[in-house]
Amino acid sequence: MNKLRPPRVSFAQMRTWEAVARLGSITAAARELHLAQPTVSSQVHEMQAALGQALLAPAGRGICITESGALLREAVLDVFKRWQALEEELLALQGLKRGTLRIAGVTTTEYFIAQWISAFARAHPGIDIELAVHNRDAVVELLRSERVDLALMMRPPSFPPLHTLPVLDNPLVLIGPAGHPWAQRRRLPLSALKGQTLLWRESGSGTRQVVLEHLRANGLEPDERLTLGSNEAIKHAVAAGLGLAVLSRHALDPDPAQEGLALLPMSGFPICRAWQLVWRRDRRLPLAASAWIEHLRASLPTAFQAGSGLTAMPHN
Ligand code: PGA
Repeated sequence: MNKLRPPRVSFAQMRTWEAVARLGSITAAARELHLAQPTVSSQVHEMQAALGQALLAPAGRGICITESGALLREAVLDVFKRWQALEEELLALQGLKRGTLRIAGVTTTEYFIAQWISAFARAHPGIDIELAVHNRDAVVELLRSERVDLALMMRPPSFPPLHTLPVLDNPLVLIGPAGHPWAQRRRLPLSALKGQTLLWRESGSGTRQVVLEHLRANGLEPDERLTLGSNEAIKHAVAAGLGLAVLSRHALDPDPAQEGLALLPMSGFPICRAWQLVWRRDRRLPLAASAWIEHLRASLPTAFQAGSGLTAMPHN
C-alpha cells in the first residue's frame, strides 16, 4: 500500500469548515463554535491555501460554498464518522477490561466447556468468569431469573424468547458394562430393551426427558425405578453392573473400556441431538457475553479440527 500522506489541514480547521459549510455563513459558524469571526476567516484562508482551491465564493451580499468546498465537507464528515467509530471501539475495549461472563451449562458440558472458555479468559484477564453447571431445568431457571446471560443446553425452553446458536452435536448412546455380550452383536432391535434395568438421571435432567420421549415414541414404557444424580454416578453404576444407561457420548472416555464401559449397538441409537448456545432476545447482552459469542463463533470449527476429538467421536 502507498504510504498515506497526512492531511494538510488540522482537526480544528475541519471542524470549522464543517460548521461554515453547513451553516453557509462565517458569522454563524463563529457563533456556534464560540470563536472570533476573524479566527474562522483565517482558518478558512489557511485551508484554501493548503488545498490550493477556493472553498467560498461571493454570492450577492453573502458567500456560497464552491464545489471544492462541498467536496471538502463530505470528506470531513467521513473523517468524523471514522473517528466516532474509533471512539466506540475504544469504549468497547475499555468495557472488556472489566466485567463478568455469566454462563450456565447443562451437566455434560462440564466435560468440555472449560476448553471453550480458557483462551478467552487468558485474552481478557480483567473479566470475571462465573460458570454454573446444573441440569436442564435448573439452567432454564437461571436464564429466566437473569442470573446468567448465556446458557448451553440441548432443549431450549419456548419462554423467554431466545436467540439460539447450535454449537455441538450431542449423540446419546446406550452403554453397558465392559464385556457386555451385546457389545459384540450386530445392531439389536430396540425391543431388546424390554425387561432391562435402565439407570436414569434425576428429574429435571434434559437427557432423561429426551431418552424417555424417545423410548415412549417407540412404544416402550421403561421402568424409572433407579435414579442417580449425575453422569459420573451413572457411569460407575453401569460399570458395576447395576444396569444399562443412555448418556451423552461426550460424557464418556473416547475409549469407554477405560472406564469399564461398552457402547451397545441398538437400532434407534444414538439419539441425535445438539447443544445450543442461547441468550435472551428481550435483554441486552453485556459486552463480555457478546465478545465470548464472537470468540466462540470464530474458534469452534478450528478447535474441533485441531483434535479436541469432540466432533470426531464415534457415535456407537
Ligand atoms: P442434563 O443435560 O441431562 O444435564 O439436564 C441436558 C442437555 O444436555 O441439554
